[in-house]
Amino acid sequence: MASHNGSGDKRLRSRRWFDDPTDPAMTALYLERYMNYGITPEELRGGKPIIGIAQTGSDLSPCNRHHLELASRIRDGIRDAGGVPLEFPMHPIQETGKRPTAALDRNLAYLGLVEVLHGYPLDGVVLTTGCDKTTPACLMGAATVNIPAIVLSGGPMLDGWWQGRLSGSGTIVWEGRKLYAEGKIDYEQFMKMVSSSAPSAGHCNTMGTATSMNALAEALGMSLPGCAAIPAPYRERGWMAYETGKRIVGMVHENLRPSDIMTKQAFENAVVAAAALGASSNCPIHMIATARHMGVEHTLDDWQRLGPEIPLLVDLQPAGRFLGEKFHRAGGVPAVMKELLAAGKLHGDVMTVTGRTLAENLAEVPDGDREVIRAYDAPLMPAAGYVVMSGNLFDSAVMKTSVIDKEFRERFLSNPERPNVFEGKAIVFDGPEDYHHRIEDPGLGVEEQSVLIIRNCGPVGYPGSAEVVNMQPPAALLKRGISALPTMGDGRQSGTSGSPSILNVSPEAAVGGGLAILKTGDRIRIDLNRRSVDVLLPEGELEARKAAWQAPKLNSMTPWEEIYRSMVGQLGSGACLEPATLFLNVIETRGES
Ligand code: FES
Ligand code: MG
Repeated sequence: MASHNGSGDKRLRSRRWFDDPTDPAMTALYLERYMNYGITPEELRGGKPIIGIAQTGSDLSPCNRHHLELASRIRDGIRDAGGVPLEFPMHPIQETGKRPTAALDRNLAYLGLVEVLHGYPLDGVVLTTGCDKTTPACLMGAATVNIPAIVLSGGPMLDGWWQGRLSGSGTIVWEGRKLYAEGKIDYEQFMKMVSSSAPSAGHCNTMGTATSMNALAEALGMSLPGCAAIPAPYRERGWMAYETGKRIVGMVHENLRPSDIMTKQAFENAVVAAAALGASSNCPIHMIATARHMGVEHTLDDWQRLGPEIPLLVDLQPAGRFLGEKFHRAGGVPAVMKELLAAGKLHGDVMTVTGRTLAENLAEVPDGDREVIRAYDAPLMPAAGYVVMSGNLFDSAVMKTSVIDKEFRERFLSNPERPNVFEGKAIVFDGPEDYHHRIEDPGLGVEEQSVLIIRNCGPVGYPGSAEVVNMQPPAALLKRGISALPTMGDGRQSGTSGSPSILNVSPEAAVGGGLAILKTGDRIRIDLNRRSVDVLLPEGELEARKAAWQAPKLNSMTPWEEIYRSMVGQLGSGACLEPATLFLNVIETRGES
């Protein structure tokens, strides 16, 4: 380890900007402008680590907005450890604000972060994460560049309450829209009901994509233990910001990099953690993307191999009952990881941002509160991970089995002659507008044994891939007590949805995937035992339809949509910008010439 004081750390890459006697003109130019708001030349040239704070908060990003304040505690930590903080903005990604969808912007924010980390005098970076896509965008950027990086989660909102009971982000929307469709509440009541779920700063308080992805960042070893679950307004959140700022300076001196932490074994741990958490169906996409940018072999096969046998341990909505505050008080991610490690399901020897292994971090962690975080051998549900499906319509799709409830199982999957097999009539929609236009049309013939299918919602088709697969049945069925039908699509669904949909179908219809040639009235067979979905068509019919298929004309509204469409891969392989996956480890932190 280099000395942290006196002449400072001579190996820091920032010195190539701020202290290069071989190029006085450039050094002077770099120095003079960074000094003009009061930083002294000694701070910049003195061998102190220069630490970026990748700021994802803004007025446009309410889920992450409190990072604007937390940054001052990050700065305090960086300063106290002998570093110099330089905060910079990231492209905003607000899940509930960006049209056509926030997913389109994950790769844009990623690209921007890579360019900043590569092109500016930074020795390490604090990644401020929160709202759904902000976490993977940050992890992906840190993976590509591979300079020392640490995650600071923003934390969930406080628990929401509605008429004396918990009101969770997203989950209250799915509940409210049923009541609205049945005519039990009016428009204004619906608005009030939904806003009750957002009582404070922070991201979604359910186990939606935000809480899931921040938990997985911690499970990967990329944040300090306990970071993910602290609610945004709690004082511990400020403490965590300070400790995170302190720790990144040490990581720079130790040259502890994402490639030391985000290894194949770490991603395997994340798959196991995702199942136990009841994590969002968006997690496989984001973890696969992060792994690819890290140069780690990690695919849906790993999710199928490791996830399905893992039980659900965490009683959070949508799979369970509670919200973020309870999860934090119950012990958060460390308590879950402790259960999984003791059950022999994790690699305990993986390195983490603490400079210690996962097992070392967990050594002193107490058991979780069993009301919220179950013991491994007394779970909420056995075998709760994602199941990866395939068949004659597509190569891969995922299904979240932890949200298949009793009613759904009894109605669709409990034929004694063929348990776990369902056959029904396809009702096909071309995107969410088509669905909204036609779902209430009695002529459509939606019945109890129908499968609702939505296409042209994938990365290329939408573009960005839309969270629309959790379609609700028409009001007539709802009124008869049928609250869900099997659904399938080449889009995604919100991590807060409790719908057991077949999601993320790859390849998508817009690039010629099998959903493109499906017609309303076709018979679909879903077989959970064989993990297969097939359309039942006479010999040759599938091929004939494929031969007649013509690629749709796609209208991009912005330059980015067009660029994105020309380079993006499918959801099954992370929906990365494919050319970007060729750039690995773009900075050698030390010893670069
Ligand atoms: Fe931002 Fe859910 S909308 S976290
Ligand atoms: Mg979402």
